[in-house]
Amino acid sequence: MTDGLFELIVGAIWFILPAYVANAAPVILGGGTPLDWGRKFTDRRRIFGPGKTIRGFAAGLIAGTILGVLQGTATGQFSTYFIHGFLLALGALTGDLLGSFVKRRLNIARGDTAPVLDQLGFVVFALLLTSPLVAPGWDVILAILIITLPIHLATNFVGYRLGLKSRPY
Ligand code: CTP
Ligand code: MG
Repeated sequence: MTDGLFELIVGAIWFILPAYVANAAPVILGGGTPLDWGRKFTDRRRIFGPGKTIRGFAAGLIAGTILGVLQGTATGQFSTYFIHGFLLALGALTGDLLGSFVKRRLNIARGDTAPVLDQLGFVVFALLLTSPLVAPGWDVILAILIITLPIHLATNFVGYRLGLKSRPY
């Protein structure tokens, strides 16, 4: 691997890390009242489903923002990374929520997989939300999209083996 490619991948992970943390935190810290309060949409299926909870959303938002704060402390650019972390976390959780909304409309049960949407939906929304503030280059965006797929699958598998998730994907 050339140095340039290695730096691109490390830079991409560093950039998107708060979104990863925001997406993973609810698996450990989520639960309780669902965000849709059990309500159904016009198609009589759940709006988001039981896998999207208020506590999970709040935990993800806080955890992702904390990661931004840590990155800001490490680099001495506190306010930039603070806002960056918050927006990435908010975007990741919103994207994840909209993904579940789409899955329910397609009659995909909670926890059942929707390829690409499950793995990349949250990242795309995280990038969209943070783009007015800090837009990375296209090479970084492409790197993020490519590396997220295996990283997401690998962390899900670890979560499954630890008994945190019911499915290995
Ligand atoms: N979670 C949560 N609140 C959120 C997001 C996730 O509590 N806002 C928790 C739930 O326990 C959920 C787990 O994290 O089951 C894994 O998240 P995810 O894979 O996104 O949800 P699924 O259960 O697969 O549900 P869906 O089919 O709606 O994606
Ligand atoms: Mg899932």
